[in-house]
Amino acid sequence: MPLRFLHCSDIHLLSLRGVGPHRFLNKRLTGGVNLMLKRGKHHDGRLFDRLVEHARELAVDRVVITGDLSNLALEQEFEHIADKLAGIGLPVTVIPGNHDAYTRGSVRSRRFEAMLGQFMEGERADNDGQYYPFVQRFEEVALVGVSTAQASLPLYAVGTVGDAQLGRLDAALERLQGEGLTRIVLIHHPVMHGEALRRHDLIDLEAFGQVVARRGAELILHGHEHREIQGTIPGVDAPVPVHGISSATNTSRHPGREAAFCVYRVEGRQIDRDVYRWDGDDFRPASATAAARALG
Ligand SMILES: [Fe+2]
Ligand SMILES: [Fe+2]
Repeated sequence: MPLRFLHCSDIHLLSLRGVGPHRFLNKRLTGGVNLMLKRGKHHDGRLFDRLVEHARELAVDRVVITGDLSNLALEQEFEHIADKLAGIGLPVTVIPGNHDAYTRGSVRSRRFEAMLGQFMEGERADNDGQYYPFVQRFEEVALVGVSTAQASLPLYAVGTVGDAQLGRLDAALERLQGEGLTRIVLIHHPVMHGEALRRHDLIDLEAFGQVVARRGAELILHGHEHREIQGTIPGVDAPVPVHGISSATNTSRHPGREAAFCVYRVEGRQIDRDVYRWDGDDFRPASATAAARALG
């Protein structure tokens, strides 16, 4: 049975429902709220609602979201997001992004994992009790969820996988390879050199690349830059395709930055993809011949 899933990212759902004024005494949050209100002009949650309708119409097996579901990592946001995801009526996989670890408090209390853990259930066989990476297995396909989320200084949006998690990822990729599974790695930050803006990058990109070069993977999906990115990084037998997707709720009409999602069909080692982009009115297939477009 092939696995068909919809990949989207950076939905940045906005909800200040029930956020008390005391929350804004935190200086970091004050800056964040200003930023978010500005951001609110560029992100429209209705696009996510439309995306969900497409997911249902396309009857995908699963919706995969590669981080930045929230803006400030507040409980109220995660509650709103959990409701939204549960309401999709399809299985959902998420990983956190830097916005989902916006404050030290949210990281310390493991708020994202506590409130959205139902969408990150999976195997953690190589993890020694640690949360990431997690593996979700669908017959011959494995989704491997990595976290790069960390609270960073204001105006920084960097990420780190960390040496310990890289070691666990190495073990997981090796084990899944041994089982002959098609390995799809989910990570929030771009993993190719030169793609992330300054102060916006994956700090241990080099070390992540070394793990992938040593163990291989069949596909890497990410978000974070709010634009479409495509390329490869070195693997074992073949280069590993890397696909970054733009924000699913961005109302921008700038080519490459407009809201988009992809539908993947994975059967054995064959991975096909259809791209859908927002045209100001609806998400539409990127081209009439996009069906069964092979990865490049
Ligand atoms: Fe984002
Ligand atoms: Fe991000």
